Amino acid sequence: MRIASVALADDQARSYGEIPIAFAVRSHYRVEKATGNSGGWRLREERVEPAYVKDYDAGGERPLRWAKRWDTSNWLVLAASENSTRLGGAVVAWNTPSVDMLEGRTDLAVLWDLRVHPGNRRRGIGTRLFDHAADWARAKGCRQLKVETQNINVPACAFYAKHGCYLGAVNPGAYPEFPAEIQLLWYLNL
Ligand SMILES: CC(C)(COP(=O)(O)OP(=O)(O)OC[C@H]1O[C@@H](n2cnc3c(N)ncnc32)[C@H](O)[C@@H]1OP(=O)(O)O)[C@@H](O)C(=O)NCCC(=O)NCCS
Repeated sequence: MRIASVALADDQARSYGEIPIAFAVRSHYRVEKATGNSGGWRLREERVEPAYVKDYDAGGERPLRWAKRWDTSNWLVLAASENSTRLGGAVVAWNTPSVDMLEGRTDLAVLWDLRVHPGNRRRGIGTRLFDHAADWARAKGCRQLKVETQNINVPACAFYAKHGCYLGAVNPGAYPEFPAEIQLLWYLNL
């Protein structure tokens, strides 16, 4: 498998968006304040019935919008492919004052998007993309990589936890259009 850096021009954004980001929600996390002196949160997995599909791209061609809405000249776009077939991608935002998620910091990068084609998940492709993203951010002088996900994305939370990220913020009510979802902000110290 090859991982290459690509541009975010229209045709590339279209190819990027052809990798489905949707996933099945079969469980979610109940988020509780941890007891004791250590602080933090405890994530308790609970089954969701009936299961449903969550698609972050639903209702619009998200990857096509990024370069229209933000100055992406300091962003990294990665494409993972095998025999010219696109299997996954990752986008890292850095040094873009209009992106609030960057907290006005240039020593912080945001893993803006990460997706692996459903038929190729759990083969280590996400890990390869994540490691590339972290290496790139480190090379830019960043001290942290930040990622937003939700309590309904158990696979992604397990993925970030496995890769050494810690849960830095929990924000219920962050998504008025999805009141049941809780925003989770993960940080990796680089
Ligand atoms: C999250 C995602 C990118 C992970 O990519 P991947 O290539 O499947 O991940 P990897 O094979 O590198 O998995 C590494 C580890 O992550 C965790 N993980 C990945 N998928 C998981 C799942 N479905 N359930 C539980 N843990 C999971 C495991 O710890 C796994 O290690 P293991 O296979 O040895 O147990 C992929 O599931 C995906 O594209 N999901 C849909 C899009 C999405 O949610 N993106 C993130 C938005 S915040």
